[in-house]
Amino acid sequence: MKPDLQNLPLILKPFILFIFLSSLSFLAFLSLQTSRQTLNKTTTENASEQLPSDLKIRPGYSSYDAYLQRQLNKTLNPKLREIWTTRDWTRKVNVFSDFFENLKQRELLFNGSKSLCIGARVGQEVAALKRVGVDDSVGIDLVPYPPLVLKGDFHHQPFDDETFDFEFSNVFDHALYPWKFVGEIERTLKPGGICVLHVLVSRRADKYSANDLYSVKPLEKMFKKSELVELRSIDGFGLDTEVVFRKRRIKVFFFFFLPFC
Ligand SMILES: C[S@@+](CC[C@H](N)C(=O)[O-])C[C@H]1O[C@@H](n2cnc3c(N)ncnc32)[C@H](O)[C@@H]1O
Repeated sequence: MKPDLQNLPLILKPFILFIFLSSLSFLAFLSLQTSRQTLNKTTTENASEQLPSDLKIRPGYSSYDAYLQRQLNKTLNPKLREIWTTRDWTRKVNVFSDFFENLKQRELLFNGSKSLCIGARVGQEVAALKRVGVDDSVGIDLVPYPPLVLKGDFHHQPFDDETFDFEFSNVFDHALYPWKFVGEIERTLKPGGICVLHVLVSRRADKYSANDLYSVKPLEKMFKKSELVELRSIDGFGLDTEVVFRKRRIKVFFFFFLPFC
């Protein structure tokens, strides 16, 4: 027999509301615990056990410090830094601006999007975001380049959970721990936030890369809290594919409890 909820005694309604809210909190707590356990597990397990077959970590890094040193050798090179900040600057900002304008037209990026560029080196992509009107933008890299780029390791982003509406990166191949790279993006993106990656799948990247991606399938597996919304071929500084993910909004079992309120 269906209970007549409208005619419940008035005194019972606050009690039922309390049960409803407690159940919601309990479900939220459970989901938080599960995602924490998953992250801890994936960051400590052996890489080869958890990676899909079409993503390979390059061998030869004896330690995390050895990996960082290799990245820094190039990023700190004074002659290259001079070139990146002078001769290369306008050309790269122009190309990045075209990509971001295109994302705005596809309604994946907005002037009000709080945005992060991951592995931004001297910040040409950050300058491009600002040029197309996305003012609240910043980059991170192992080497800071103020004010556009802050110091930060993309395996441990220096930001709170759910900080950004939009994250862009063309350095996925530099991640020694790709699942941490992705986990950090999903942690710092707001629900509904957009992540755009430019990756290379048709051939091997340069000697500073730490992994090789043979298709976009591993990305789909690693972006556990997101859905793939767009995939297209591009020509972006040697990278051939643009992949767009949207972080899922949390589903609350609201409708299940609605009749009790
Ligand atoms: C190929 S460069 C790309 C630079 C920039 N996105 C561009 O297109 O001009 C790769 C960048 O990733 C940075 N990088 C490598 N490992 C990193 C890490 N663990 N955390 C943050 N940045 C890192 C390097 O310092 C370097 O600046």
